[in-house]
Amino acid sequence: MSVLREAFVDELKDSLDAERQLLKALPKMAEAAENDQLRAAFEQHEQETRQQISRLGQVFEAFEEQAQGKHCKGMEGLIEEAEELIKEEEGDAALIAAAQKAEHYEISAYGTLAAWAVALGQEQAAQVLNETLQEERETDKKLTAIAQTVVNSMESQREKEESESESEQRPRRQQPASRSRRKSASAKSAPRSKRQSSRVSRSQKTRRAQPRSKRAHAGKR
Ligand SMILES: [Fe+2]
Repeated sequence: MSVLREAFVDELKDSLDAERQLLKALPKMAEAAENDQLRAAFEQHEQETRQQISRLGQVFEAFEEQAQGKHCKGMEGLIEEAEELIKEEEGDAALIAAAQKAEHYEISAYGTLAAWAVALGQEQAAQVLNETLQEERETDKKLTAIAQTVVNSMESQREKEESESESEQRPRRQQPASRSRRKSASAKSAPRSKRQSSRVSRSQKTRRAQPRSKRAHAGKR
């Protein structure tokens, strides 16, 4: 077996395992998503991933190799990170970032595989791999668009909370705006649980006494 062919089959096995790992992780990511579009995107990609696994089967066949996975440490690490974000309730923006890392990993792998398939004279297999590559790119683009919506709504929610909280405090305390702002600034140093600071919907329920500071919010990321 040529060195390139060996490297190709190895990478193919790695990708098969990566897809299988992602297939298991996607339902958890969909469940964790708060944004409806994001949840739908994860669900759709779960279906696409099934299709991609079957396409990999076709490529194994073209190379007359058994469709066998080989543990993909890269995807394992990326999924581990995503699961951590879910556990810590970091929110949709962080979830999208983790998903895009996984997509970029796959885009890189499929780009390599398609190029190697051409070099190995397997045009048909290259086409199949390119089809998946295109699908991964589309998913990545879609996630970028959803991220824009999610980040914007998180930001406007924060602004709304801040202005609500300020208007609630002002008449009660009979303080000038500048003074109440100073007070809220001193609250920046007060310890807050990760959960409170990270999740907009959660923080709404908790109804904080102090407005969320811009610095503390930005520093989270
Ligand atoms: Fe994939």
